[in-house]
Amino acid sequence: MNSFLSRTSSWVLALFLAVAAPAFAQDAATVSKNGVTPGTAAGATPAAAAAPAGAQGAGGGDAAAIAAGDALFKNNCAQCHAVNDKVVGPALAGITKRRSISWLIPWVKNSSKVIASGDEYAVKLFNDNGKQQMPAFPQLSDKEITSIMAWVTSQEGGPAPAGGGVTAANAGGADGKDAGAGAAAAGGYTDILLIVLVVVLIVLVVTLAIIANLMKDVLQGRKDLDGRDVELLEQRFDWTKLYRSTALRGIVGTVFALVLLYEGVQSVMAVGLTQGYQPTQPIAFSHKIHAGENQINCAYCHTSVYKAKSANIPSANICMNCHSQIKTESPEIKKIYRAIERKQPIQWVRVHNLPDLAYFNHSQHTQVGGIQCQTCHGPIQNMEVVYQYSALTMGWCINCHRETPLNTKGNAYYDNLVKLHDKSNNAVPFTVSSNGGTECSKCHY
Ligand code: HEC
Ligand code: HEC
Ligand code: HEC
Ligand code: HEC
Ligand code: HEC
Ligand code: HEC
Repeated sequence: MNSFLSRTSSWVLALFLAVAAPAFAQDAATVSKNGVTPGTAAGATPAAAAAPAGAQGAGGGDAAAIAAGDALFKNNCAQCHAVNDKVVGPALAGITKRRSISWLIPWVKNSSKVIASGDEYAVKLFNDNGKQQMPAFPQLSDKEITSIMAWVTSQEGGPAPAGGGVTAANAGGADGKDAGAGAAAAGGYTDILLIVLVVVLIVLVVTLAIIANLMKDVLQGRKDLDGRDVELLEQRFDWTKLYRSTALRGIVGTVFALVLLYEGVQSVMAVGLTQGYQPTQPIAFSHKIHAGENQINCAYCHTSVYKAKSANIPSANICMNCHSQIKTESPEIKKIYRAIERKQPIQWVRVHNLPDLAYFNHSQHTQVGGIQCQTCHGPIQNMEVVYQYSALTMGWCINCHRETPLNTKGNAYYDNLVKLHDKSNNAVPFTVSSNGGTECSKCHY
């Protein structure tokens, strides 16, 4: 709703600007310079402008840097970190206040080196986190790390990542997808700006009308006017002429067609994209309580995930291993008992759903590939209600196949292939795609 409103008003404004005097266009140019371009209401640019503390550590709250940081964070850090919650690693909110950027860059590149150097903060952090090793990211440049921190800062204090991000994604449609919570706030900001601009324009129009009337009055008082001047002066504005003008009708028609086309393309692009989908489940089952707080292993419930194509959803019997004792009086738990009495499975609503034309195999990725659940499903252990974290598009699958080195260690099957690959193409790592992971037939048959 919000994004529809701001989009509509930006269209109205754009129309106004196209028709109005060049002076107004100058106004608009100053606005763009400040980071808000009319017509991209829900886009990423205003998100940055609105982010209060975005400037810190990132050289002026640069929107591009924050957007880049968002993507880098999702690809490299999100499986272990969230901004406002502890996941595997600590919550990163306030990190640029705790640590300087000159500490953070070497830390992210190789944290064990910082710990080994005896840095007091690092050693304490390492011990406080159960001596878990954060992986090294030597491939990230200083600029990329700075942009991750800029993104983190822009997310601080926002709503919990799960809820906030998803609602914004749903509301914003295709273009609000990654902007997350920031975009919602930015929506309000652009709305206000647009309203102010429209008010200014109306005031200008009214002022011009008053001036025109005044001049008319002055002229009418003069005696030295000839016939043609008087005729001009008496002439009233003929609205029907305007209505009949083919030029104007042409302009309005074209603009209308363009708007329709634009909105049409936007909605077509969004078809089939279900990222952020978060249905309500029949029982208020929380992964945060089970996989997060109580650290129950994913495979305790999703028993087939390392062995088979599909990950199963646990049956009510698995719940009963614990809930025959735990919280037996809770109305939500009583729903489990009722399902068992009626001998009917619990009707969980499916969240992830690839179309039938695509083949995806869990064990290939989890067992063989050694990929963490969180890389694809996000911070499930923090989700009260599961939502679809990744896009699940073909591009998403293929990008990862292009970038991820094959897990070939200790697997004799790959030895010869790797040797062949290294001989012909030493500079490029042996990725999933080098092994044919982007061939159509691997995923479609
Ligand atoms: C596999 C899990 C994992 C990944 C991936 C990961 N981290 Fe960490 N991170 C940790 C752990 C665990 C700690 C706590 C320190 C320790 O035990 O070494 C930590 C600590 C940190 C700290 C210090 C936090 C503080 O409160 O002082 C920062 C900053 C940080 N990580 C940034 C990043 C960034 C940026 C990325 C992505 C490029 C990333 N981490 C990826 C696990 C991870
Ligand atoms: C105590 C049992 C239990 C544990 C432990 C558990 N899950 Fe689940 N999981 C469920 C149930 C029940 C559902 C179906 C209801 C729902 O979607 O919330 C589910 C649903 C899911 C879904 C969505 C499936 C769909 O419909 O597309 C994913 C993804 C998932 N779990 C991943 C994980 C991951 C990753 C872990 C470990 C961090 C984990 N689960 C741990 C019980 C569990
Ligand atoms: C390994 C043990 C274990 C299993 C298996 C398990 N749970 Fe739980 N569950 C817990 C614990 C521990 C709590 C937290 C109890 C508390 O807050 O005191 C909990 C809490 C809950 C709650 C919140 C109850 C309330 O009113 O606060 C629900 C709902 C729930 N579980 C549903 C399920 C469902 C559905 C399954 C099966 C898919 C399941 N659980 C499987 C251990 C388990
Ligand atoms: C490489 C990415 C990837 C990894 C890693 C991954 N999943 Fe999935 N998961 C998917 C995709 C894609 C689907 C949708 C599959 C479909 O619709 O056929 C899915 C679906 C699911 C479902 C719904 C049931 C199903 O199979 O369709 C559950 C439950 C689930 N995953 C749990 C897990 C758990 C637990 C782990 C970690 C042990 C995990 N996943 C690791 C990509 C992944
Ligand atoms: C996070 C990274 C990642 C994502 C996302 C991912 N994959 Fe993969 N995939 C891998 C890795 C790594 C392997 C190689 C596993 C191995 O054999 O060592 C692989 C292997 C495969 C294979 C077997 C390829 C072969 O050469 O035999 C298929 C098929 C496949 N993936 C399908 C998919 C589909 C379909 C999706 C999207 C729904 C997807 N993958 C998403 C990382 C990913
Ligand atoms: C790594 C796995 C993978 C590979 C390789 C792959 N696809 Fe796909 N493809 C998918 C997935 C997953 C979808 C479903 C995407 C969705 O639902 O948005 C898909 C969807 C499609 C669609 C349906 C169009 C759509 O957007 O729904 C077509 C057509 C298609 N692929 C053709 C190809 C062709 C041609 C190739 C070879 C050049 C190829 N694919 C290679 C995974 C793959």
